[in-house]
Amino acid sequence: MIIMDKRSQISGFYKLGPKERVQIVKDFAGLTDEEVEVLQSTGALKLDLADRMIENVIGTMPIPLGIAVNFLINGRDYLVPMAIEEPSVVAGASKAAKMARVKGGFFTSSTEPIMIGQIQLVGVDHPQEAKRAILGAKEEILKKANEQDPMLVSVGGGAKDLDAKVIQASNEPMVITELHVDCRDAMGANAVNTMAEAVAPMIERLTQGRVYLRIISNLATKRLARARTVVEKEALGGEEVVDGVVEAYAFAEADPYRAATHNKGILNGIIGVVIATGNDHRAVEAGAHAYAARSGHYGSLTVWEKNKDGDLAGSIELPMAVGIIGGATTVHPVAKIALKILGVKTAREFAEVLAAVGLAQNLAALRALANEGIQRGHMSLHARNVAITAGASGELIDLIVEKMVEERRVRLDRAKELIREYRERGRKT
Ligand code: MEV
Repeated sequence: MIIMDKRSQISGFYKLGPKERVQIVKDFAGLTDEEVEVLQSTGALKLDLADRMIENVIGTMPIPLGIAVNFLINGRDYLVPMAIEEPSVVAGASKAAKMARVKGGFFTSSTEPIMIGQIQLVGVDHPQEAKRAILGAKEEILKKANEQDPMLVSVGGGAKDLDAKVIQASNEPMVITELHVDCRDAMGANAVNTMAEAVAPMIERLTQGRVYLRIISNLATKRLARARTVVEKEALGGEEVVDGVVEAYAFAEADPYRAATHNKGILNGIIGVVIATGNDHRAVEAGAHAYAARSGHYGSLTVWEKNKDGDLAGSIELPMAVGIIGGATTVHPVAKIALKILGVKTAREFAEVLAAVGLAQNLAALRALANEGIQRGHMSLHARNVAITAGASGELIDLIVEKMVEERRVRLDRAKELIREYRERGRKT
């Protein structure tokens, strides 16, 4: 594929306007003129389609779609689309990905795309016996589950296994059956829920109990994505910054109040991509936070260490329930284009890219926090807008932004003054 030959390292991408940027993305991802038009129209999601997606529709809610550049993952270049309202996220991810590139970028892995469907059984006198009866009928239950989705089975997915456990709820013991469903390239909630509902009467018959809930679990511990990277200390800004990031990680690992914000920063990047591709971001977020608390202590989703060369080594592991087919991923016009830009061929590849994005986003935040603080980055974007509003163009924008940020005086009057000064100086030289 042509995409394989393209590089995502595009210097000065941020200095271009949206119309110029989209041409670069068009070439990179082989977008059509129509797709470019959809991307650049604020009414890309037509009202009649929106009205078929949810209930009581009265309009649509556009948010900016940006491209994080510089991502090199398993030796392949990716341009990463992010839909997000918060400044500095796209810039942060791009900057971190650039630093990571020096030592080869990100390396990723993942488990099979297996989701868990839970079936809650109550009112059984002998829960352990009920559990044994369920486990004894495993093949029969899996067969019933797979009859619900021959399409998924035909592509190699479907219910592969089941487990049963007795839990001590506050009112009574319950027997929870867990279906393990390989969802292939779909997120899989529909398939899993349909299967859980279909096998429930069989479980009642086997146990003489009463089934209540039949639903997917968002704590997708069987659908994990992992990424790791090494960031050269010079690329990061020196050994002190390496130490700062390691200290920041240790803080998050030890203190849930910090860990919540630390993990929120990771999700800033991941969720931006998840939304851009029409995936269920609540599912990903729920899974991430629950996974961060799996030991009983809520901690960091990432690990950062100084390696023997004094460089920064980082890794992340988290559940990643995302798909590249089904739901809004296949109906939302922008989501379809975002997936095309990303160029992922399977849900697993997609999940791994998301893990790399999360790791990059965390690196960007920790580096800024351990260094100059995050306000400087926020200020740069604001300063850019102010400089342009004041009438700056071309190279002058950067000069004025730099000066205003350095002075911590980001104001329209100051920008106008600086424009006059630089132009004056330009005339004299
Ligand atoms: C802001 O949206 C995200 C950060 O707070 C993340 C963090 O503190 O690690 C900067």
